[in-house]
Amino acid sequence: MSSPTSTSPAFRTAIVPAAGLGTRFLPTTKAVPKELLPVVDTPGIELVAEEAAEAGAERLVVVTSPDKRSVAEYFQHQPELESTLAERGKDRLLDKVRRGPDLINAEIALQERALGLGHAVGCAEPNLAPTDDAVAVLLPDDLVLPHGVLGRMAETRRRFGGSVLCAFDVPADSVSSYGIFDVDDTDENDVKRVRGMVEKPAPDRAPSRLAAAGRYLLDRAVFDALRRIDPGAGGELQLTDAVALLISEDHPVHVVVHSGVRHDLGNPGGFLKAAVDFALKDSEIGPDLRDWLVERIGRS
Ligand code: G1P
Repeated sequence: MSSPTSTSPAFRTAIVPAAGLGTRFLPTTKAVPKELLPVVDTPGIELVAEEAAEAGAERLVVVTSPDKRSVAEYFQHQPELESTLAERGKDRLLDKVRRGPDLINAEIALQERALGLGHAVGCAEPNLAPTDDAVAVLLPDDLVLPHGVLGRMAETRRRFGGSVLCAFDVPADSVSSYGIFDVDDTDENDVKRVRGMVEKPAPDRAPSRLAAAGRYLLDRAVFDALRRIDPGAGGELQLTDAVALLISEDHPVHVVVHSGVRHDLGNPGGFLKAAVDFALKDSEIGPDLRDWLVERIGRS
C-alpha cells in the first residue's frame, strides 16, 4: 500500500462512471445520455468535473459505452462554434462553451458491457499514470454541495492512509438503495472509521443509516480488489464489495460525513429538484421562477 505524504496531492485523476443505460430517463435517453441532461443550462457531468477540478484533479477518465462517447466528447473544444461566437461578440456564451474543455483533460475508458459499478471503475485502470497512488471516483448521479468534501477526504487520507469515502444520513426506509457503512467514531466529529460496508441491504440487515454518497478517494489497491470480487447485489460487480474486501484485509477505510445538500440526478424527481435549486440561485431566472412557483403552489 502506498503512503501519501503531506506534500503530494491526494489525487490527480478522477474517474466518472457514465456507461449506464439511463432507463429512468427513457424515452429521452434513447438519444441523449443522461449525463448530458442540463441542470438549468449545464450538463450534470460538467458540474461533477468542476468539483473534481476544484479539488485538484487534472484528468477526468469518463468510463462509458461505445454508443455514449458524446459524454466525453462534450469536453472537447469546438473551434468553429467558438470562433463564430467570438466574431459575433457573444463573450458570455463563449465562456460557457469553453468552460468544460478548459476545466480538465477528459479522456474515455470504454466499458463494453454493463457489469456493474465495480467493473466500470476497473475499466479505467489502464488509463492511470504510474504515479496515481490514489484516484477519486465521482458518480455523476450525485451532486454533493457545497463543494469541498473531496478536499476533506484528501485530508483524511493524509492522516489515516488507505481509502476515504463520503457518507450521508438517509431515512431508515431508504437504506436498500445505497451502500451502507458500519462505523466507529474517531476523534474528529465528521470522520468515522469503517468496519464494514454492504451494498443495498434490507432495512433489517442495515448496520447504520450512513450511506455512500457517490464520492470515493480510493487507494490504488482497489483495482486489485476489484479483480477478486464476485458479482453481488443485482448480480453486478459492486464497488462496495471491493471496499469491503479491502477492509477485511485491514486496509484502512474512513468516511467523511457530509452535512450539506445531496441531489440525486439519477431519477426525474431528484433531477427536477436539483434543477429548481440551481435555477432559484440564478440571478437572471431565479426571481421570476420563485414568484411563479409560489403562485403555482398556491393554485394546486
Ligand atoms: C451506487 C453505489 C451505492 C451508492 C450510490 C450513491 O448505487 O453502488 O453504494 O450508495 O451509488 O448514489 P446506484 O445508485 O448506482 O444503484
